Amino acid sequence: MAARINTSLHNALSLLNPFNTPLNTKPFTCRNSFRFSKKLPFDSQSSSGKRALYCTSSSQETGVDGGETFVLTTPLYYVNAPPHMGSAYTTIAADSIARFQRLLGKKVIFITGTDEHGEKIATSAAANGRNPPEHCDLISQSYRTLWKDLDIAYDKFIRTTDPKHEAIVKEFYARVFANGDIYRADYEGLYCVNCEEYKDEKELLENNCCPVHQMPCVARKEDNYFFALSKYQKPLEEILSQNPRFVQPSYRLNEVQSWIKSGLRDFSISRALVDWGIPVPDDDKQTIYVWFDALLGYISALTEDNKQQNLETAVSLGWPASLHLIGKDILRFHAVYWPAMLMSAGLNLPKMVFGHGFLTKDGMKMGKSLGNTLEPFELVQKFGPDAVRYFFLREVEFGNDGDYSEDRFIKIVNAHLANTIGNLLNRTLGLLKKNCESTLVVDSTIAAEGVPLKDTVEKLVEKARTNYENLSLSSACEAVLEIGNAGNTYMDQRAPWFLFKQGGVSAEEAAKDLVIILEVMRVIAVALSPVAPCLSLRIYSQLGYSHDQFNSITWSDTKWGGLKGGQVMEQANPVFARIELNSEKEEAEKKPKVGKKTGKAKVKVEQTPTIAEA
Ligand code: MSP
Repeated sequence: MAARINTSLHNALSLLNPFNTPLNTKPFTCRNSFRFSKKLPFDSQSSSGKRALYCTSSSQETGVDGGETFVLTTPLYYVNAPPHMGSAYTTIAADSIARFQRLLGKKVIFITGTDEHGEKIATSAAANGRNPPEHCDLISQSYRTLWKDLDIAYDKFIRTTDPKHEAIVKEFYARVFANGDIYRADYEGLYCVNCEEYKDEKELLENNCCPVHQMPCVARKEDNYFFALSKYQKPLEEILSQNPRFVQPSYRLNEVQSWIKSGLRDFSISRALVDWGIPVPDDDKQTIYVWFDALLGYISALTEDNKQQNLETAVSLGWPASLHLIGKDILRFHAVYWPAMLMSAGLNLPKMVFGHGFLTKDGMKMGKSLGNTLEPFELVQKFGPDAVRYFFLREVEFGNDGDYSEDRFIKIVNAHLANTIGNLLNRTLGLLKKNCESTLVVDSTIAAEGVPLKDTVEKLVEKARTNYENLSLSSACEAVLEIGNAGNTYMDQRAPWFLFKQGGVSAEEAAKDLVIILEVMRVIAVALSPVAPCLSLRIYSQLGYSHDQFNSITWSDTKWGGLKGGQVMEQANPVFARIELNSEKEEAEKKPKVGKKTGKAKVKVEQTPTIAEA
């Protein structure tokens, strides 16, 4: 069934006075022309007085540039159920990007939060025997707990039930209304409660099933307020053709352009049958549609507690966002609806929307509605935050879908974090202790004179930086790992344990080799810190640095030469515990076990190899 607006867009756009008359009583006034915000949405003076930098710096093809302040957001997560690994994925990626931008010296405002209104939330609260506020408190808290477990260092956590958010939504609504972009009409269509969206019949599967949630959509007929999205068709087309980097990865841009080209229809921004929401100004029989409410969280999050809350102050504190990170399923809301809403309210557009792919299980999107989720709390408890963060960012090309399997997880983190990185550090510190009293004999710059490994590391660091900048997080991890591989190759080729045995000049050379490898480890620690911050801290600590010194590192610390002669290293201690499958352990012990072979993983502390093994 195609959605139908009883009062068609072009003869029904009405301009009602929000201040004098209740919205539901005033008759329509025809309005055939529209006023486009005089401010250009991009590249204009933001209200903070800073120039919006979208597309003004063009040295990189695809990199994000947030100017001095880098504001990035995750979606605000629905609180219908506790977080699963799919929701954690966006946040892990966002945290790594935020950490990288901080290393570059930017002031970062990393925004996350929870989306708490709407039918879906009210239904799940009722199903759990709670009232909506209790339910929201509980689930919102579970997100915060997970972010803590995963080492997510967000700056702002916004809840859409926060009164300061509600105030901003109402003010925004009034602005859009005053611009003549809200009108009232009947609507009839097929609704997916899980998407909280009316669907086009042509995008549905058999039996009107939603392709994302695989559940039938329900027929709905309502008297709603509408946002005149169709007025923004041309401006949106122009923006996308002038600023193709607005939607990333580039292949998602085509999708967005084709939606727009196929014709934009106005969408309903209120619900008559849903109580759990922000009342429409001047019509408390309707609540504001969850998306029209939640998207404003990106702005209301900027406000400071106990200060005056209004749109203008919020905007002055960091809008427009440099980057919205989202999953591909909510691209239309962010790349079509949201920019049009902002234009209507006369606000600048975000500089970039990046739509990543899905974590899948058996090829299906992992999700709360489908019930095929992976438990992030369990995963972090079992393997630690670094392993979880590293695996998903390294394994899944950011933008594409990726499947999870425990075997693959264990294989990757063992090979990369325990062996390539952890073991190299351990072997080197062991040798240093035995032969140099854990003290560096010379500055790393002097040690590396004429050594090609230094150039290799410098090139790989540059590669990692470019990849971080371009949000190619998997390739950034790969470049860091290549540094580790180069360090291992150097160790094996130079065989310092053998040179020490020879004594004299050979032993002096060996001592320098250890300095070189430890400097490699230091560079790895800095370059990997956006992805695996705890692991990097452990490496840094073993290299003799304090917590505070680690906390003040910047990307310029990837430059060769940080380690100085005389610096004393800590006792070698495995920085990453190797994960062992029970089945492997059983095989190693060669003892027939009674009971089932679970294949469940156990974390085993890697034994420091003896010097002879090294
Ligand atoms: N509440 C809205 C967002 C409003 S933003 C103003 C919402 N919430 S959600 O909880 O359903 O989804 C939040 C994010 O998690 C989305 O970006 C979605 O793509 C992402 N993911 C949910 N399941 C996912 C996977 N299985 N894999 C990767 N990301 C997934 O939409």
